[in-house]
Amino acid sequence: MYLRSFADSDGDGIGDLGGLLDRLPYLADLGVDALWITPWYPSPMADGGYDVADYCDIDPRFGTLADADALLAEAHRLGLRVITDLVANHTSEQHPWFVAALAAGPGSPERARYFFRDGRAGGEQPPNDWISAFGGPAWSRVREPDGFPGQWYLHLFAPQQPDLDWDHPGVREDFDAILRFWFDRGIDGIRVDAAPAMAKVTGLPDAGHGPGALFESRTWVGNPHWDVEEVHDILRRWRRIGDSYEGGRLFVTEAVVNGPERLSRYVRPDEMHTSFNFDYLTSPWDARSLRAVIDASLAALAPVGAPATWVLSSHDETRHATRFGRADTTAAIGGGAMGFDTAAPADRELGLRRARAAVLLTLALPGSAYLYQGEELGLPEVEDLPEDVLQDPTWERSGHTARGRDGCRVPLPWAGDSPPFGFTEDGVAPWLPQPADWATSTVAAQRADPGSTLSLYRTALHLRRSVLVSADESMVWIDAADDVLAFDRGTALRCVVNLSGEPLDVTGHGEVLLASGPGDGRLPPDTAAWFRVDGG
Ligand code: GLC
Repeated sequence: MYLRSFADSDGDGIGDLGGLLDRLPYLADLGVDALWITPWYPSPMADGGYDVADYCDIDPRFGTLADADALLAEAHRLGLRVITDLVANHTSEQHPWFVAALAAGPGSPERARYFFRDGRAGGEQPPNDWISAFGGPAWSRVREPDGFPGQWYLHLFAPQQPDLDWDHPGVREDFDAILRFWFDRGIDGIRVDAAPAMAKVTGLPDAGHGPGALFESRTWVGNPHWDVEEVHDILRRWRRIGDSYEGGRLFVTEAVVNGPERLSRYVRPDEMHTSFNFDYLTSPWDARSLRAVIDASLAALAPVGAPATWVLSSHDETRHATRFGRADTTAAIGGGAMGFDTAAPADRELGLRRARAAVLLTLALPGSAYLYQGEELGLPEVEDLPEDVLQDPTWERSGHTARGRDGCRVPLPWAGDSPPFGFTEDGVAPWLPQPADWATSTVAAQRADPGSTLSLYRTALHLRRSVLVSADESMVWIDAADDVLAFDRGTALRCVVNLSGEPLDVTGHGEVLLASGPGDGRLPPDTAAWFRVDGG
Protein backbone atom coordinates (compact mmCIF):
# COMPACT_ATOMS: atom_id res chain seq x y z
CA MET A 1 0.00 0.00 0.00
CA TYR A 2 1.42 3.37 -1.01
CA LEU A 3 -0.65 5.17 1.60
CA ARG A 4 -0.58 8.63 0.00
CA SER A 5 -2.18 7.23 -3.15
CA PHE A 6 -4.62 4.60 -1.91
CA ALA A 7 -7.74 6.49 -0.72
CA ASP A 8 -8.38 9.88 0.88
CA SER A 9 -10.99 10.21 3.63
CA ASP A 10 -10.65 13.87 4.65
CA GLY A 11 -10.67 15.72 1.35
CA ASP A 12 -7.09 17.03 1.27
CA GLY A 13 -6.16 15.06 -1.85
CA ILE A 14 -3.73 12.82 0.07
CA GLY A 15 -4.48 9.18 0.89
CA ASP A 16 -4.76 8.42 4.61
CA LEU A 17 -5.51 5.81 7.26
CA GLY A 18 -9.22 6.63 7.23
CA GLY A 19 -9.31 5.96 3.49
CA LEU A 20 -7.50 2.67 3.96
CA LEU A 21 -9.84 1.67 6.79
CA ASP A 22 -12.87 2.34 4.58
CA ARG A 23 -11.42 0.16 1.83
CA LEU A 24 -10.23 -2.77 3.93
CA PRO A 25 -13.24 -4.86 2.83
CA TYR A 26 -12.07 -4.39 -0.76
CA LEU A 27 -8.66 -5.79 0.14
CA ALA A 28 -10.09 -8.68 2.12
CA ASP A 29 -12.41 -9.51 -0.78
CA LEU A 30 -9.51 -9.27 -3.24
CA GLY A 31 -7.95 -12.14 -1.34
CA VAL A 32 -4.66 -10.78 0.03
CA ASP A 33 -3.32 -12.08 3.35
CA ALA A 34 -1.43 -9.03 4.59
CA LEU A 35 -0.79 -5.36 3.92
CA TRP A 36 2.62 -3.75 3.76
CA ILE A 37 2.02 -0.04 4.33
CA THR A 38 4.64 2.51 3.27
CA PRO A 39 5.91 4.89 6.00
CA TRP A 40 3.14 6.65 7.90
CA TYR A 41 5.33 8.57 10.38
CA PRO A 42 5.56 12.37 10.71
CA SER A 43 7.74 13.45 7.82
CA PRO A 44 8.61 16.53 5.78
CA MET A 45 7.99 14.19 2.76
CA ALA A 46 11.28 14.98 1.05
CA ASP A 47 11.17 11.32 -0.05
CA GLY A 48 7.51 10.39 0.29
CA GLY A 49 7.76 9.62 4.01
CA TYR A 50 11.04 7.68 3.82
CA ASP A 51 12.45 10.68 5.70
CA VAL A 52 11.13 10.12 9.21
CA ALA A 53 10.99 12.90 11.82
CA ASP A 54 9.38 10.80 14.60
CA TYR A 55 9.30 6.99 14.57
CA CYS A 56 6.57 6.66 17.21
CA ASP A 57 3.75 8.72 15.76
CA ILE A 58 1.59 9.11 12.64
CA ASP A 59 1.89 12.03 10.24
CA PRO A 60 -1.17 14.30 10.69
CA ARG A 61 -1.79 14.07 6.93
CA PHE A 62 -2.34 10.33 7.38
CA GLY A 63 -4.18 10.43 10.72
CA THR A 64 -3.38 9.70 14.35
CA LEU A 65 -2.11 6.82 16.47
CA ALA A 66 -5.75 6.14 17.33
CA ASP A 67 -6.47 5.75 13.60
CA ALA A 68 -3.58 3.28 13.32
CA ASP A 69 -4.99 1.30 16.23
CA ALA A 70 -8.44 1.27 14.61
CA LEU A 71 -6.94 0.15 11.32
CA LEU A 72 -5.05 -2.69 13.00
CA ALA A 73 -8.11 -3.86 14.88
CA GLU A 74 -10.30 -3.88 11.78
CA ALA A 75 -7.62 -5.50 9.61
CA HIS A 76 -7.22 -8.26 12.16
CA ARG A 77 -10.98 -8.70 12.37
CA LEU A 78 -11.00 -9.24 8.59
CA GLY A 79 -8.12 -11.71 8.79
CA LEU A 80 -5.52 -9.34 7.33
CA ARG A 81 -2.04 -8.93 8.86
CA VAL A 82 -0.31 -5.54 8.82
CA ILE A 83 3.37 -4.93 8.07
CA THR A 84 4.81 -1.49 8.70
CA ASP A 85 7.82 0.04 6.99
CA LEU A 86 10.86 0.81 9.15
CA VAL A 87 13.36 3.28 7.71
CA ALA A 88 16.39 2.85 9.95
CA ASN A 89 19.37 3.62 7.73
CA HIS A 90 18.55 7.30 7.86
CA THR A 91 16.25 9.80 9.55
CA SER A 92 14.78 13.01 8.28
CA GLU A 93 16.98 16.09 8.56
CA GLN A 94 14.13 17.36 10.77
CA HIS A 95 14.42 14.50 13.27
CA PRO A 96 15.31 15.95 16.70
CA TRP A 97 18.51 13.83 16.72
CA PHE A 98 19.77 15.52 13.57
CA VAL A 99 18.59 18.99 14.58
CA ALA A 100 20.51 18.56 17.84
CA ALA A 101 23.57 17.25 15.98
CA LEU A 102 23.67 20.31 13.72
CA ALA A 103 23.34 22.68 16.67
CA ALA A 104 25.90 20.91 18.85
CA GLY A 105 28.83 21.30 16.47
CA PRO A 106 31.89 19.20 15.52
CA GLY A 107 33.08 16.56 17.96
CA SER A 108 29.86 16.57 20.01
CA PRO A 109 28.15 13.40 21.22
CA GLU A 110 25.05 14.49 19.26
CA ARG A 111 27.01 14.32 15.98
CA ALA A 112 28.26 10.83 16.82
CA ARG A 113 24.81 9.41 15.99
CA TYR A 114 25.38 10.32 12.34
CA PHE A 115 28.40 10.43 10.02
CA PHE A 116 29.81 13.93 10.34
CA ARG A 117 33.34 14.26 8.95
CA ASP A 118 35.72 17.03 7.92
CA GLY A 119 36.07 17.46 4.18
CA ARG A 120 39.18 16.80 2.12
CA ALA A 121 41.23 19.52 0.41
CA GLY A 122 41.05 21.88 3.36
CA GLY A 123 37.41 21.01 3.94
CA GLU A 124 36.22 21.95 0.45
CA GLN A 125 35.79 18.40 -0.91
CA PRO A 126 33.57 15.56 0.39
CA PRO A 127 35.32 13.20 2.85
CA ASN A 128 35.22 10.30 0.34
CA ASP A 129 33.88 9.29 -3.08
CA TRP A 130 30.60 7.69 -1.98
CA ILE A 131 27.50 8.38 -4.08
CA SER A 132 23.77 8.83 -3.43
CA ALA A 133 21.12 6.44 -4.77
CA PHE A 134 19.30 9.50 -6.11
CA GLY A 135 22.35 10.79 -8.00
CA GLY A 136 25.34 12.95 -7.06
CA PRO A 137 27.65 12.72 -4.05
CA ALA A 138 26.51 11.09 -0.78
CA TRP A 139 27.81 14.03 1.27
CA SER A 140 26.48 17.52 1.98
CA ARG A 141 28.32 20.29 3.79
CA VAL A 142 26.74 22.01 6.75
CA ARG A 143 26.85 25.57 7.99
CA GLU A 144 28.19 25.40 11.53
CA PRO A 145 26.60 27.21 14.49
CA ASP A 146 29.21 29.98 13.95
CA GLY A 147 27.77 30.63 10.47
CA PHE A 148 30.73 29.28 8.48
CA PRO A 149 30.76 26.22 6.18
CA GLY A 150 32.06 23.30 8.21
CA GLN A 151 31.75 19.53 8.35
CA TRP A 152 30.05 17.20 5.87
CA TYR A 153 27.41 14.58 6.68
CA LEU A 154 26.65 11.33 4.88
CA HIS A 155 23.37 10.59 3.08
CA LEU A 156 23.20 7.55 0.81
CA PHE A 157 19.80 8.82 -0.33
CA ALA A 158 18.62 12.47 -0.46
CA PRO A 159 20.41 15.24 1.53
CA GLN A 160 17.24 15.43 3.65
CA GLN A 161 17.94 11.82 4.76
CA PRO A 162 21.13 11.78 6.89
CA ASP A 163 22.52 8.26 7.54
CA LEU A 164 22.62 7.06 11.14
CA ASP A 165 25.81 5.50 12.48
CA TRP A 166 24.70 2.03 13.56
CA ASP A 167 27.96 1.50 15.49
CA HIS A 168 26.57 3.97 18.02
CA PRO A 169 25.04 1.99 20.92
CA GLY A 170 22.36 4.63 21.49
CA VAL A 171 21.11 4.23 17.92
CA ARG A 172 20.74 0.47 18.38
CA GLU A 173 18.94 0.87 21.70
CA ASP A 174 16.58 3.54 20.40
CA PHE A 175 15.52 1.31 17.52
CA ASP A 176 14.98 -1.64 19.87
CA ALA A 177 12.44 0.58 21.64
CA ILE A 178 10.87 1.68 18.33
CA LEU A 179 10.37 -1.95 17.27
CA ARG A 180 8.77 -2.74 20.61
CA PHE A 181 6.54 0.34 20.36
CA TRP A 182 4.94 -1.00 17.16
CA PHE A 183 4.95 -4.66 18.11
CA ASP A 184 3.23 -3.78 21.39
CA ARG A 185 0.52 -2.00 19.39
CA GLY A 186 -0.13 -5.21 17.43
CA ILE A 187 1.86 -4.70 14.23
CA ASP A 188 2.45 -8.16 12.69
CA GLY A 189 5.67 -7.46 10.87
CA ILE A 190 8.29 -5.04 9.64
CA ARG A 191 9.52 -4.25 6.17
CA VAL A 192 13.16 -3.25 6.60
CA ASP A 193 13.92 -0.35 4.29
CA ALA A 194 17.30 -0.21 2.53
CA ALA A 195 18.74 -2.96 4.74
CA PRO A 196 22.12 -3.29 2.96
CA ALA A 197 22.89 0.37 3.68
CA MET A 198 22.83 0.10 7.46
CA ALA A 199 26.49 -0.82 8.05
CA LYS A 200 29.57 0.93 6.69
CA VAL A 201 33.19 -0.19 6.62
CA THR A 202 35.07 1.42 9.51
CA GLY A 203 37.11 4.43 8.44
CA LEU A 204 34.75 5.08 5.50
CA PRO A 205 37.30 4.23 2.77
CA ASP A 206 36.77 5.30 -0.85
CA ALA A 207 34.56 2.97 -2.88
CA GLY A 208 36.40 3.59 -6.15
CA HIS A 209 33.39 5.29 -7.77
CA GLY A 210 34.50 7.21 -10.85
CA PRO A 211 32.94 10.49 -12.03
CA GLY A 212 29.26 10.03 -12.92
CA ALA A 213 29.12 6.56 -11.31
CA LEU A 214 25.61 5.15 -10.84
CA PHE A 215 24.22 3.40 -7.77
CA GLU A 216 24.57 -0.12 -9.18
CA SER A 217 24.17 -2.16 -6.03
CA ARG A 218 23.24 -5.28 -8.01
CA THR A 219 26.77 -5.50 -9.39
CA TRP A 220 28.91 -4.18 -6.52
CA VAL A 221 31.38 -6.51 -4.82
CA GLY A 222 33.15 -5.51 -1.61
CA ASN A 223 31.55 -2.06 -1.56
CA PRO A 224 32.29 -0.16 1.70
CA HIS A 225 28.80 1.38 2.02
CA TRP A 226 26.51 -1.41 0.81
CA ASP A 227 25.92 -5.02 1.87
CA VAL A 228 28.66 -4.81 4.51
CA GLU A 229 28.91 -7.83 6.83
CA GLU A 230 27.93 -5.97 10.04
CA VAL A 231 24.42 -5.38 8.64
CA HIS A 232 23.66 -8.91 9.74
CA ASP A 233 24.37 -8.13 13.41
CA ILE A 234 21.58 -5.54 13.32
CA LEU A 235 19.16 -7.93 11.62
CA ARG A 236 19.88 -10.68 14.17
CA ARG A 237 19.27 -8.25 17.00
CA TRP A 238 15.87 -7.32 15.52
CA ARG A 239 14.94 -10.95 14.92
CA ARG A 240 15.53 -11.69 18.60
CA ILE A 241 13.13 -8.88 19.51
CA GLY A 242 10.47 -10.15 17.09
CA ASP A 243 10.85 -13.70 18.35
CA SER A 244 10.32 -12.54 21.94
CA TYR A 245 6.65 -11.86 21.05
CA GLU A 246 4.13 -14.64 21.22
CA GLY A 247 3.84 -16.22 17.78
CA GLY A 248 6.80 -14.14 16.60
CA ARG A 249 6.72 -11.20 14.22
CA LEU A 250 7.53 -11.20 10.51
CA PHE A 251 10.49 -9.41 8.91
CA VAL A 252 10.92 -8.79 5.19
CA THR A 253 13.96 -6.91 3.91
CA GLU A 254 14.43 -4.67 0.98
CA ALA A 255 17.90 -5.70 -0.12
CA VAL A 256 19.02 -4.92 -3.65
CA VAL A 257 22.31 -6.82 -3.71
CA ASN A 258 24.54 -8.75 -6.07
CA GLY A 259 22.54 -11.88 -6.88
CA PRO A 260 20.63 -14.61 -5.05
CA GLU A 261 23.58 -15.89 -2.95
CA ARG A 262 24.20 -12.49 -1.37
CA LEU A 263 20.46 -12.11 -0.86
CA SER A 264 20.18 -15.49 0.86
CA ARG A 265 22.46 -14.18 3.62
CA TYR A 266 19.66 -11.83 4.75
CA VAL A 267 17.30 -14.75 5.34
CA ARG A 268 19.50 -17.12 7.33
CA PRO A 269 17.55 -18.85 10.11
CA ASP A 270 18.37 -16.24 12.78
CA GLU A 271 17.91 -13.20 10.51
CA MET A 272 14.97 -12.05 8.41
CA HIS A 273 12.16 -14.38 7.32
CA THR A 274 11.98 -13.22 3.72
CA SER A 275 13.42 -10.65 1.36
CA PHE A 276 12.05 -9.04 -1.79
CA ASN A 277 13.32 -10.68 -4.96
CA PHE A 278 14.59 -7.92 -7.23
CA ASP A 279 16.14 -10.40 -9.65
CA TYR A 280 12.62 -11.57 -10.49
CA LEU A 281 11.34 -8.00 -10.72
CA THR A 282 14.11 -6.99 -13.11
CA SER A 283 13.91 -10.04 -15.35
CA PRO A 284 12.87 -9.29 -18.93
CA TRP A 285 9.68 -10.92 -20.26
CA ASP A 286 11.57 -13.84 -21.71
CA ALA A 287 11.12 -17.53 -20.86
CA ARG A 288 14.80 -18.32 -20.54
CA SER A 289 15.55 -15.39 -18.21
CA LEU A 290 12.50 -15.96 -16.05
CA ARG A 291 13.25 -19.65 -15.69
CA ALA A 292 16.88 -18.94 -14.82
CA VAL A 293 15.87 -16.38 -12.15
CA ILE A 294 13.27 -18.71 -10.64
CA ASP A 295 15.73 -21.62 -10.51
CA ALA A 296 18.57 -19.49 -9.10
CA SER A 297 16.29 -17.93 -6.48
CA LEU A 298 15.02 -21.27 -5.23
CA ALA A 299 18.48 -22.86 -5.31
CA ALA A 300 20.07 -20.04 -3.28
CA LEU A 301 17.32 -20.11 -0.65
CA ALA A 302 17.22 -23.89 -0.19
CA PRO A 303 20.39 -24.14 1.96
CA VAL A 304 19.12 -21.47 4.39
CA GLY A 305 15.59 -22.87 4.41
CA ALA A 306 13.87 -19.55 3.64
CA PRO A 307 10.77 -19.21 1.46
CA ALA A 308 11.04 -17.39 -1.85
CA THR A 309 9.22 -14.15 -2.63
CA TRP A 310 8.10 -12.81 -5.99
CA VAL A 311 7.28 -9.25 -6.97
CA LEU A 312 6.70 -7.42 -10.26
CA SER A 313 6.00 -3.82 -9.26
CA SER A 314 6.36 -1.43 -6.34
CA HIS A 315 6.23 2.26 -5.45
CA ASP A 316 9.85 2.46 -6.67
CA GLU A 317 9.52 0.84 -10.10
CA THR A 318 7.90 1.50 -13.45
CA ARG A 319 4.56 -0.32 -13.42
CA HIS A 320 5.03 -3.65 -15.17
CA ALA A 321 1.94 -3.25 -17.38
CA THR A 322 3.96 -0.50 -19.08
CA ARG A 323 7.40 -2.09 -18.78
CA PHE A 324 6.22 -5.29 -20.46
CA GLY A 325 4.93 -3.25 -23.41
CA ARG A 326 8.37 -1.81 -24.19
CA ALA A 327 10.97 -3.21 -26.57
CA ASP A 328 13.28 -3.66 -23.56
CA THR A 329 11.19 -5.29 -20.82
CA THR A 330 13.96 -5.22 -18.17
CA ALA A 331 13.12 -3.07 -15.13
CA ALA A 332 15.00 0.22 -14.92
CA ILE A 333 16.59 -0.64 -11.58
CA GLY A 334 18.82 -3.08 -13.49
CA GLY A 335 20.17 -0.17 -15.49
CA GLY A 336 21.67 1.71 -12.60
CA ALA A 337 20.25 4.27 -10.23
CA MET A 338 17.05 3.72 -8.31
CA GLY A 339 13.86 4.12 -10.28
CA PHE A 340 15.46 5.86 -13.22
CA ASP A 341 12.88 5.45 -15.91
CA THR A 342 13.85 4.97 -19.52
CA ALA A 343 10.47 6.32 -20.69
CA ALA A 344 10.78 4.30 -23.91
CA PRO A 345 7.54 3.99 -25.90
CA ALA A 346 5.22 1.24 -24.69
CA ASP A 347 2.50 -0.81 -26.40
CA ARG A 348 -0.19 -0.65 -23.71
CA GLU A 349 -2.29 -3.52 -25.02
CA LEU A 350 0.72 -5.85 -25.23
CA GLY A 351 1.95 -4.74 -21.81
CA LEU A 352 -1.38 -5.47 -20.16
CA ARG A 353 -1.68 -8.86 -21.87
CA ARG A 354 1.74 -9.81 -20.51
CA ALA A 355 1.00 -8.38 -17.06
CA ARG A 356 -2.11 -10.57 -16.85
CA ALA A 357 -0.06 -13.62 -17.80
CA ALA A 358 2.68 -12.60 -15.38
CA VAL A 359 0.40 -12.57 -12.36
CA LEU A 360 -0.65 -16.16 -13.04
CA LEU A 361 3.03 -17.09 -13.21
CA THR A 362 3.84 -15.14 -10.03
CA LEU A 363 0.97 -16.49 -7.97
CA ALA A 364 1.70 -20.09 -9.01
CA LEU A 365 5.30 -20.01 -7.77
CA PRO A 366 6.18 -21.44 -4.34
CA GLY A 367 6.61 -18.87 -1.55
CA SER A 368 5.00 -15.46 -1.01
CA ALA A 369 4.01 -12.89 -3.60
CA TYR A 370 3.86 -9.11 -3.20
CA LEU A 371 1.40 -7.10 -5.28
CA TYR A 372 1.55 -3.33 -5.61
CA GLN A 373 -1.71 -1.40 -5.32
CA GLY A 374 -3.26 -0.70 -8.71
CA GLU A 375 -1.61 -3.60 -10.53
CA GLU A 376 -4.84 -5.52 -9.89
CA LEU A 377 -6.51 -2.84 -12.03
CA GLY A 378 -3.89 -3.24 -14.76
CA LEU A 379 -2.84 0.39 -14.26
CA PRO A 380 -0.07 1.67 -16.53
CA GLU A 381 2.80 3.96 -15.53
CA VAL A 382 1.69 7.57 -15.93
CA GLU A 383 4.44 8.85 -18.19
CA ASP A 384 3.16 12.32 -19.01
CA LEU A 385 2.93 13.96 -15.57
CA PRO A 386 3.69 17.67 -16.04
CA GLU A 387 7.18 18.54 -14.84
CA ASP A 388 5.88 21.05 -12.30
CA VAL A 389 4.02 18.34 -10.33
CA LEU A 390 6.95 15.91 -10.04
CA GLN A 391 7.91 15.32 -6.40
CA ASP A 392 10.39 12.44 -6.40
CA PRO A 393 13.83 13.72 -5.29
CA THR A 394 15.31 11.85 -8.26
CA TRP A 395 13.98 14.61 -10.55
CA GLU A 396 15.99 17.36 -8.84
CA ARG A 397 19.03 15.22 -7.99
CA SER A 398 19.42 14.06 -11.60
CA GLY A 399 19.41 17.65 -12.88
CA HIS A 400 15.99 17.04 -14.46
CA THR A 401 17.16 14.13 -16.58
CA ALA A 402 15.33 11.31 -14.75
CA ARG A 403 11.65 11.82 -13.92
CA GLY A 404 11.80 9.34 -11.05
CA ARG A 405 9.03 7.30 -9.47
CA ASP A 406 5.96 9.53 -9.44
CA GLY A 407 4.46 7.77 -12.47
CA CYS A 408 3.75 4.62 -10.45
CA ARG A 409 2.43 6.60 -7.47
CA VAL A 410 -0.58 8.28 -9.06
CA PRO A 411 -3.68 7.96 -6.81
CA LEU A 412 -5.95 5.00 -7.47
CA PRO A 413 -9.17 5.29 -9.48
CA TRP A 414 -12.11 3.86 -7.51
CA ALA A 415 -15.25 4.93 -9.35
CA GLY A 416 -16.77 7.51 -11.67
CA ASP A 417 -16.04 8.89 -15.12
CA SER A 418 -13.54 11.63 -14.37
CA PRO A 419 -10.82 12.58 -11.87
CA PRO A 420 -10.60 12.24 -8.92
CA PHE A 421 -12.37 8.92 -9.64
CA GLY A 422 -13.55 8.53 -6.04
CA PHE A 423 -10.00 8.77 -4.63
CA THR A 424 -10.96 11.99 -2.82
CA GLU A 425 -13.95 14.32 -2.69
CA ASP A 426 -15.23 15.62 -6.02
CA GLY A 427 -13.65 18.95 -6.85
CA VAL A 428 -10.47 18.20 -4.89
CA ALA A 429 -7.23 17.69 -6.82
CA PRO A 430 -5.32 14.52 -5.84
CA TRP A 431 -1.69 15.17 -4.86
CA LEU A 432 -0.65 13.86 -8.28
CA PRO A 433 -3.04 14.31 -11.23
CA GLN A 434 -4.78 11.21 -12.61
CA PRO A 435 -5.10 10.58 -16.36
CA ALA A 436 -8.52 11.57 -17.71
CA ASP A 437 -8.87 8.20 -19.44
CA TRP A 438 -8.92 6.00 -16.32
CA ALA A 439 -12.74 5.67 -16.26
CA THR A 440 -12.60 2.10 -17.58
CA SER A 441 -9.86 1.18 -15.07
CA THR A 442 -11.78 2.02 -11.89
CA VAL A 443 -12.63 -0.60 -9.31
CA ALA A 444 -16.34 0.07 -9.91
CA ALA A 445 -15.99 -0.42 -13.67
CA GLN A 446 -14.02 -3.65 -13.33
CA ARG A 447 -15.77 -5.25 -10.42
CA ALA A 448 -18.79 -6.54 -12.31
CA ASP A 449 -16.84 -7.61 -15.40
CA PRO A 450 -15.67 -11.24 -15.16
CA GLY A 451 -13.11 -10.58 -17.91
CA SER A 452 -11.49 -7.61 -16.13
CA THR A 453 -7.99 -7.60 -14.70
CA LEU A 454 -9.48 -7.05 -11.24
CA SER A 455 -11.57 -10.21 -11.62
CA LEU A 456 -8.52 -12.14 -12.83
CA TYR A 457 -6.50 -11.11 -9.75
CA ARG A 458 -9.37 -11.82 -7.40
CA THR A 459 -10.04 -15.28 -8.83
CA ALA A 460 -6.32 -16.09 -8.90
CA LEU A 461 -5.82 -15.05 -5.27
CA HIS A 462 -8.80 -17.06 -4.06
CA LEU A 463 -7.79 -20.11 -6.10
CA ARG A 464 -4.23 -19.81 -4.84
CA ARG A 465 -5.52 -19.91 -1.31
CA SER A 466 -7.91 -22.82 -1.81
CA VAL A 467 -5.92 -24.95 -4.24
CA LEU A 468 -2.31 -24.26 -3.37
CA VAL A 469 -2.57 -24.11 0.36
CA SER A 470 -2.33 -27.85 0.66
CA ALA A 471 -0.01 -28.31 -2.31
CA ASP A 472 3.46 -29.71 -2.10
CA GLU A 473 5.68 -26.60 -1.92
CA SER A 474 8.02 -27.91 -4.60
CA MET A 475 7.65 -26.96 -8.22
CA VAL A 476 8.62 -29.24 -11.08
CA TRP A 477 9.22 -27.96 -14.59
CA ILE A 478 7.54 -30.03 -17.27
CA ASP A 479 8.71 -30.46 -20.86
CA ALA A 480 7.76 -27.52 -23.01
CA ALA A 481 8.93 -25.57 -26.05
CA ASP A 482 11.73 -23.01 -25.61
CA ASP A 483 9.46 -20.00 -25.23
CA VAL A 484 7.03 -21.67 -22.87
CA LEU A 485 7.17 -21.93 -19.08
CA ALA A 486 5.29 -24.93 -17.70
CA PHE A 487 5.43 -26.40 -14.22
CA ASP A 488 3.44 -28.38 -11.70
CA ARG A 489 2.88 -27.56 -8.06
CA GLY A 490 2.43 -31.08 -6.75
CA THR A 491 -0.84 -32.44 -8.07
CA ALA A 492 -2.72 -29.25 -7.23
CA LEU A 493 -1.97 -27.01 -10.11
CA ARG A 494 -0.16 -26.76 -13.42
CA CYS A 495 0.87 -23.35 -14.74
CA VAL A 496 1.61 -22.80 -18.44
CA VAL A 497 2.81 -19.44 -19.77
CA ASN A 498 3.14 -18.88 -23.51
CA LEU A 499 5.93 -16.35 -24.14
CA SER A 500 6.27 -17.31 -27.81
CA GLY A 501 4.83 -15.42 -30.75
CA GLU A 502 2.57 -18.35 -31.72
CA PRO A 503 -0.62 -19.81 -30.23
CA LEU A 504 0.10 -22.85 -28.07
CA ASP A 505 -1.97 -26.04 -28.06
CA VAL A 506 -2.73 -26.88 -24.42
CA THR A 507 -5.43 -29.51 -24.89
CA GLY A 508 -3.39 -32.19 -23.11
CA HIS A 509 -3.04 -30.36 -19.80
CA GLY A 510 -6.38 -31.08 -18.16
CA GLU A 511 -9.19 -28.86 -16.93
CA VAL A 512 -8.56 -25.12 -17.15
CA LEU A 513 -8.96 -23.48 -13.74
CA LEU A 514 -8.17 -19.95 -14.86
CA ALA A 515 -6.74 -18.29 -17.96
CA SER A 516 -5.40 -14.79 -18.52
CA GLY A 517 -6.80 -14.76 -22.08
CA PRO A 518 -9.16 -17.00 -24.02
CA GLY A 519 -8.72 -20.45 -22.44
CA ASP A 520 -10.21 -22.68 -25.09
CA GLY A 521 -7.50 -25.24 -25.77
CA ARG A 522 -5.09 -22.74 -27.32
CA LEU A 523 -3.10 -20.15 -25.40
CA PRO A 524 -2.54 -17.04 -27.55
CA PRO A 525 0.94 -15.42 -27.36
CA ASP A 526 1.70 -13.71 -24.02
CA THR A 527 -1.07 -15.45 -22.10
CA ALA A 528 -1.06 -18.02 -19.32
CA ALA A 529 -3.39 -20.56 -17.75
CA TRP A 530 -3.72 -22.69 -14.65
CA PHE A 531 -4.86 -26.31 -15.02
CA ARG A 532 -5.99 -28.93 -12.60
CA VAL A 533 -3.38 -31.66 -13.04
CA ASP A 534 -4.95 -34.89 -14.30
CA GLY A 535 -5.76 -37.10 -11.35
CA GLY A 536 -5.10 -34.19 -8.94
C1 GLC B 1 13.59 2.29 -0.22
C2 GLC B 1 12.18 2.76 -0.49
C3 GLC B 1 12.24 3.99 -1.34
C4 GLC B 1 13.05 5.06 -0.61
C5 GLC B 1 14.42 4.54 -0.18
C6 GLC B 1 15.09 5.45 0.79
O1 GLC B 1 14.22 1.91 -1.37
O2 GLC B 1 11.42 1.73 -1.08
O3 GLC B 1 10.98 4.46 -1.71
O4 GLC B 1 13.23 6.16 -1.46
O5 GLC B 1 14.33 3.29 0.45
O6 GLC B 1 14.51 5.34 2.06
